[in-house]
Amino acid sequence: MEGLEKVLAFLDKVKTYYLATVEGDQPRVRPFGTALIYDGKLYIQTGKVKPVSKQLAANPKAEICAFDFTTGAWLRVAGELINDDNRDVKVAMLEKIPDLKSMYDPDDDNTQVLYFKNATATFSSFAGPQETINF
Ligand SMILES: Cc1cc2nc3c(=O)[nH]c(=O)nc-3n(C[C@H](O)[C@H](O)[C@H](O)COP(=O)(O)O)c2cc1C
Repeated sequence: MEGLEKVLAFLDKVKTYYLATVEGDQPRVRPFGTALIYDGKLYIQTGKVKPVSKQLAANPKAEICAFDFTTGAWLRVAGELINDDNRDVKVAMLEKIPDLKSMYDPDDDNTQVLYFKNATATFSSFAGPQETINF
């Protein structure tokens, strides 16, 4: 499996990851679940009205962490989350996760997709060495 696909497969398997952002000198973290590869980039989805969106607009540096309790492995992805107004990506995200359609619409001026830039994914476990993927 290619690096980025491996990251997505991990996120899809565990379903929930935790997204950390920065607000001034205060870290903020919350559960997230959206993940999609589009055009060779890893996207997440949120709403522009949310504090998380405003934090990323002010400072795109972010990190996500997910844990697979069935294997004991965890994944961290650190980088910048960049807004993308491409409607096609929003449509693809809503198609992948139809549950979002009750809350979001590609044309609602709230739905936001962001992709990781200058990102490093690190797979870790207590059992073995780390694997690092840059994208
Ligand atoms: C399992 C789970 C997955 C979630 N996935 C997302 C997501 O992908 N995108 C999103 O915007 N909110 C998601 N949420 C909701 C956010 O965690 C919630 O809106 C949070 O308050 C956003 O952070 P903020 O208040 O700092 O903006 C999820 C919540 C849970 C419990």
